[in-house]
Amino acid sequence: MNLDQVRVLYSEEEVKARIQQMGEIITRDYYEEELLVIGILKGAFIFMADLVRKIDVPLRIDFMDVSSYGSSTISSGEVRIMKDLDYSIEGKNVLIVEDIVDTGLTLNYICEILRKRNPKTLRIACLLDKPSRRKTDTVPDYIGYSIADEFIVGYGLDYAEYYREYPAICILNPSVYEK
Ligand code: IMP
Ligand code: MG
Repeated sequence: MNLDQVRVLYSEEEVKARIQQMGEIITRDYYEEELLVIGILKGAFIFMADLVRKIDVPLRIDFMDVSSYGSSTISSGEVRIMKDLDYSIEGKNVLIVEDIVDTGLTLNYICEILRKRNPKTLRIACLLDKPSRRKTDTVPDYIGYSIADEFIVGYGLDYAEYYREYPAICILNPSVYEK
């Protein structure tokens, strides 16, 4: 990790312990049920890999990739599906796994699409939540950490596709993107 560019917010050890707890809660909530866990690419890939290994109910995984329409500064909340699911979700317990919920617009749109496919249940697990930025009434069911409005990288989250491999949850130094 380049510590001139980032500051550690939650260490690798802290995140590991938190995901263990989340896995235990999810395991309890889906007792004697089956799960279809859907990761939203690419940001969720590390969180997803760690979380599913802490969930102890029969599960299958799938991935979805979405991208926002139009300019990134004016989020319309409308997303284009770049990669759709491989499986039908009808009648299934679906758990969406997302890296971070910011305005909530992306997740809101994904949930709208998925609800039309008649899952039995639809819940959201996110590693990070920035509630102060919310523009929708999206409330994740499982939240790793609720954080202030800062730009986060590491643990799957990127800035211009970099830093995803950093093992800790880090705050990106504004000097990196303000130059
Ligand atoms: P939303 O539609 O505003 O909730 O957008 C959420 C998406 O924006 C996340 O899935 C991330 O890909 C990205 N995002 C939002 N905040 C951050 C951040 O602090 N670091 C990295 N990506 C972020
Ligand atoms: Mg994302």
